[in-house]
Amino acid sequence: MEVFEGKTWISGQGLVDTCVGVSEGKIVSVKKILKGDKHTVTDGIILPAGLDMHVHFRDPGYPHKEDWKSGSQSAACGGVTAVVDMPNTNPFTSNVETFNEKVSLASSKSLVDFGVGMNVEEGLTSKSWFDTIPSAFWKLYPYGISSEQYFDLANEVLKKTRKPLVIHGEHPDHMHNQPLHKLSDHTQNRSRAESECLSAMPSSEKLHVAHLSSLEGLRCMPESATSEVCPHHLLLSLDSCASLDCKVDPPLRSRNDNNGLYEAFREGSIPILASDHAPHTIEEKRSEAPPSGIPGVETMIPLMLNEVSAGRLDLGRLVNAMSEAPASRLGLERGKIAEGFTADFIVVNLKQVDPIDVDALHSRASWTPYQDWPAVFPSSVYRRGDLISYNQEPIGTGGGQHLFG
Ligand code: DOR
Ligand code: ZN
Repeated sequence: MEVFEGKTWISGQGLVDTCVGVSEGKIVSVKKILKGDKHTVTDGIILPAGLDMHVHFRDPGYPHKEDWKSGSQSAACGGVTAVVDMPNTNPFTSNVETFNEKVSLASSKSLVDFGVGMNVEEGLTSKSWFDTIPSAFWKLYPYGISSEQYFDLANEVLKKTRKPLVIHGEHPDHMHNQPLHKLSDHTQNRSRAESECLSAMPSSEKLHVAHLSSLEGLRCMPESATSEVCPHHLLLSLDSCASLDCKVDPPLRSRNDNNGLYEAFREGSIPILASDHAPHTIEEKRSEAPPSGIPGVETMIPLMLNEVSAGRLDLGRLVNAMSEAPASRLGLERGKIAEGFTADFIVVNLKQVDPIDVDALHSRASWTPYQDWPAVFPSSVYRRGDLISYNQEPIGTGGGQHLFG
């Protein structure tokens, strides 16, 4: 058994001076005093590592934007030891073959553990593998689809599945891409897309709304559905960020929306933090028709730890939103420092605030809207007991396991 000693976040208790005993990737004991083969006194507090249930690692299909190696290294250096990848790769993840191909790519290249989201397409619920394929969830997009088809598919999947249905909650009727002169044009084009979509969705415990972006959308959330929010919809707005680089779906909105979503996040009515890590190169972002998306898997936890450090967010709430809540939403026994749980944790010094430097990040996107923003990066990141990042550098390659395998 290897022992880690330090102030540790224990769910229900807070920060406690304790020892965490790890064997074969699991936490086997949490006790005031423990003796093991190896004993590490940590140089900061021990927190559960993050599970980011919304990333786009672009593999297969777009390795110049990201692949499982670069994306997972980026995740690891930001304190994320497990991710769920979205299906809009090339090919889309939408059948057994493409699912297996992605699992095999990730198994050979990912430094972090992973799950795979499957695309919702016509005929999904009648496929022979619908009940058995070990996808993390189903993902429904509003692009290139009629609104009738979109809502019919949502209702049908919700009726027949036992898994979460994650929706990109913007109304298909608003998803046309007009030429943009400035960032606010994009926001303007989509001003009612979220609220009109969410108010037409059925109430279901299986429904999960990705990247909630507006106060109006929050008000229109179907009653029993869950939701997630991304750092860019909490921290960036049209008031603070005018660059077209920040074109993202759903769009950035006003500071008032930031504040309203942040309040809901603080009190837990938006339970989950996710990055929607959507890497595109800066050349693509600056082209005639810029794609939507902001990279963020590496900066998500550091930015939010800085919020804790600055006294704007409760540490326990952050830990819940980045670790426990996404794990339990996906039915996984992870995200807590407790006996029997996976030994995934990060070591953090909340007083160590450093500016974000794009050159130190690991995504192939090679740009960030958060250059020079204050952040608290984890000094060490452990995945199933193994050190996979130290001082913002990845350690080793591969070794990530399928969360649902
Ligand atoms: O901005 C976005 N980019 N929103 C999405 O939903 C997709 C993502 C991407 O894949 O680039
Ligand atoms: Zn996304």
